[in-house]
Amino acid sequence: SLRQPLNVMISGAPASGKGSQCEMIVQKYGLVHISTGDLLRAQVSSGTEIGNKAKDYMESGRLVPDEIVTAMVKSRLSEEDAQEKGWLLDGYPRSFTQAQSLEQMKIRPDIYIVLDVPDEILIDRCIGRRLDPVTGKIYHLKNFPPESDEIRARLTTRPDDTAEKVKSRLETYQKNAEAISSTYLDILNKIDGNRPKEVVFDEIDSLLLQIQKDKLKATNLG
Ligand code: AP5
Repeated sequence: SLRQPLNVMISGAPASGKGSQCEMIVQKYGLVHISTGDLLRAQVSSGTEIGNKAKDYMESGRLVPDEIVTAMVKSRLSEEDAQEKGWLLDGYPRSFTQAQSLEQMKIRPDIYIVLDVPDEILIDRCIGRRLDPVTGKIYHLKNFPPESDEIRARLTTRPDDTAEKVKSRLETYQKNAEAISSTYLDILNKIDGNRPKEVVFDEIDSLLLQIQKDKLKATNLG
């Protein structure tokens, strides 16, 4: 096929806005969103073997062992929809080992986006975050309150969104960030994530449009 689907990787500290940006990217570009956090939470809530293994790690804010997560990502990436529509990988790789696993499989994104947000803002974003189990939408009590009382009443909080656990999640992120970035230096794009989400999206959108153009040109020339 002449069509070259986009492959995007989005990274950033806990609550830097990865999930929120992915909602907008998917809406415009139709990429297959692969969020390891969402996949793992789904396994936990349906009580699968993977879920039972992952639960304690997640609830205490630690990383789930590499081999569990890598197997899950590998199988999801190889599905037909991801191959055809392109993928948006969110929350993976989270360690140097995970980045190396992808490299060994020759899986490379077109762009590596890192959302940059100061720590004190991240903590506030986690504490105020609420999720709608019906639509999957991400809210924030102050920044993005629910549209109705009906939605408000059903919102849930994540067990790892307490101040203490957020701090340890942040430390884990900071410990790993540089080693992962070093794998993708040539395609790294750091974006200021401490701005309104539409503004952040505009910047991501123009990067993706440019890549799409470049890919099309390369296809036509080849
Ligand atoms: P995961 O689900 O990936 O959590 P995370 O990286 O901590 O990221 P978050 O989901 O907390 O935040 P986000 O960046 O998506 O922000 P959001 O858009 O929601 O992982 C959870 C756990 O799973 C890990 O701790 C680990 O145990 C396990 N795991 C996952 N992947 C793994 C892997 N690869 N290896 C091993 N273990 C793994 O936004 C946050 C809040 O801010 C929301 O309330 C939102 O409304 C608000 N907000 C968003 N954007 C803005 C903005 N621009 N301005 C103001 N507010 C905003």
